[in-house]
Amino acid sequence: MNSKKEFWSSSKGFILAMAGSAIGLGNIWRFSYIMGKYGGAAFFLTYIGAIFFIGLPIMLCELTIGRAAQSGPLDAMTKLAPKITKLSKLLAVLLFLGAGCFVFAGMRTHAVLTALLGVGALIYGWGTLGFAATYLTPLMISVFYSVVGGWIIIYTVLSLKGGIFRQSVESSTELLNGLVLAQNGKAWIVIISALLFFLMTCGIVLAGIKKGIERFSNIFMPVIFILFLVIIARALTLPGAKEGLRFLFLPDFSKLTAEAVMAALGQAFFTLSLGSGVGIAYGAYLDRSVSLVKTAVTIVLMDTFASILAGLAIFPILFATGLDPQEGTSLVFKVLPLAFGKLPLSALWGFLFFFTLLLAALTSSISMLEGAVMGLMDKLSLSRAKAVAIIAVVLGSLVPVTALSAANYDNLPLLGNFLQGTLGLKSGSFFAILDNTTCLWLMPLTGLATILFVVFVWGRKNVLEEMCGCSEKDRVFAKVWFFVVAFITPLLVIAAFLKGLKIIF
Ligand code: PFF
Repeated sequence: MNSKKEFWSSSKGFILAMAGSAIGLGNIWRFSYIMGKYGGAAFFLTYIGAIFFIGLPIMLCELTIGRAAQSGPLDAMTKLAPKITKLSKLLAVLLFLGAGCFVFAGMRTHAVLTALLGVGALIYGWGTLGFAATYLTPLMISVFYSVVGGWIIIYTVLSLKGGIFRQSVESSTELLNGLVLAQNGKAWIVIISALLFFLMTCGIVLAGIKKGIERFSNIFMPVIFILFLVIIARALTLPGAKEGLRFLFLPDFSKLTAEAVMAALGQAFFTLSLGSGVGIAYGAYLDRSVSLVKTAVTIVLMDTFASILAGLAIFPILFATGLDPQEGTSLVFKVLPLAFGKLPLSALWGFLFFFTLLLAALTSSISMLEGAVMGLMDKLSLSRAKAVAIIAVVLGSLVPVTALSAANYDNLPLLGNFLQGTLGLKSGSFFAILDNTTCLWLMPLTGLATILFVVFVWGRKNVLEEMCGCSEKDRVFAKVWFFVVAFITPLLVIAAFLKGLKIIF
C-alpha cells in the first residue's frame, strides 16, 4: 500500500500518538460530566473495570490486526481472512434481527443503520466491518467533535479577555446557550471556529505520520500533562478541595445504578477510541519488533491516568467553590468558568484549562481522519494531499450543518422537517444523531464484530503468532488476553447492548 511507506520513527512516538488519540474530550469533558452525574467513586471503579476487561482487550485486537495486515482498517480484515465466511453471514442475520428490535423499540436511526450494515455484511462480509471502522464511525465523530472543538477555541480566546467568567449560573448558561443554539448573531462565530478546528486537524493529518501526527503528539502530549499538573496544584490548595477528593475516591456503591454501569462501558469505548479503526490504522505503521502487549498496556494506563488527572483538576475546584457536579454535558463549559471566576488570576487558570482541552481534542481528532485517508490513498491511488482534500470538502460541508443544529433544528427547519417529519427520527438535533449513533451503537457494535473476527475467523494460532514475537511474559499475557477476549469481553458488550434496548435490567 502506498500510504505504508512511512513508519513511526520510534515506539515512543507511536505510544504518544495512540495516547493522543485516546486522551481527549472523552477524558475531560465527557468523563467529568458522567462522573458527576453517576455519583463519583463507585462509577469510577466500574469504569476502571470496563477499561481493563473491555477496553484493553479490544485495543489489543485492533493493534494486532493492523500490524499483521499492514493495512488501514478498510482492507485489514479482508487481507487476513476470506471476505465472506459463515460467521459474516450469521452476523448479517443477527444485524437484521437487531434492526427488527430497534423498529420495535421505536429507534429508527439505529434500525436503518443496522439494516444497512446487515445488507453490507451479506454482500461484502468482513469488508463491511472495515468500512464502518474507516468511513462511518470515525468520520461521524469527527464532525461533532469539531463543533465542540470550535466551542473550546471560543472559550480559550474569551478566557484571555475574561469574557467567560460570569457571576451567576444564569449568565454562564446564557453564554453557553448562545453557542449551542447558534442564534442571536452567534451563528457565524460558531461555524467559523468549528471549521477552524476541523481545518487545523486536516492540516496536521496532511503533514503525514512522522511530520504531522507523531510530531504534534510528541510535543503536545507532555504539555497537556504538565498543564494539568499546574491546574491540579492550584485545585488541591483551595480550601474545601478535600470534598472533591472524597467524591472521586470514596465509593458509595448504593449509588451505582445499572444505567451507571452501562455508561461506564460506553465511556470505555469512547475514551480509548475503540471501534473506530484508530488502533488498526496506527498499528499498520508499527514495526514488528515492538511488543504489542506492553504498548497497549502503556496506552491504556496513560489514558486512565489522564482521566484521574482531569478528575483531580475539576472536582476539587467544583467542591471548593460550592458548585454542582451534576450539571451534565455542560459541566466544563458552564460550571468551570464560574468556578475559575472565583479564583485569583482567573484568566490564567481559565486559559490554561481550555488550551489544554484544545490540545487534547486536536490530538484525538487527527486520529479520526487517518484511517479514511489511508483508505482513499490505497483504493484510489491518491496522494495524501488529495485524500485529505476530499475528506476536508465532504466533512467540511457537514461541520456547519452540525454546528447549527447542536441543540435543535430551529436554525435549519428544512433539515428538521426531513429528519423528524419525513424519516420520523426522534433525536432532537443532527448533533445528537451523530453522537448517539456512534458512541452508543456503532462503536460497541464494531468492537464486538472485531472480537468475533479475531477469535473465530482469524483464529487463536494466527493472533498469538502476531502478538508473541517478544518476551515470555508477553506470551503468557497474550494467552490470558485471548481467554478474556473470547469469553468475558463479548458477554459484557452484549449485556450493554441489551441494556440499551431495555431488554435486560
Ligand atoms: N478517545 C477520544 C476522546 O476520549 O476524546 C475520542 C475518539 C477519538 C473517539 C478517536 C474515536 C476516535 F476514532
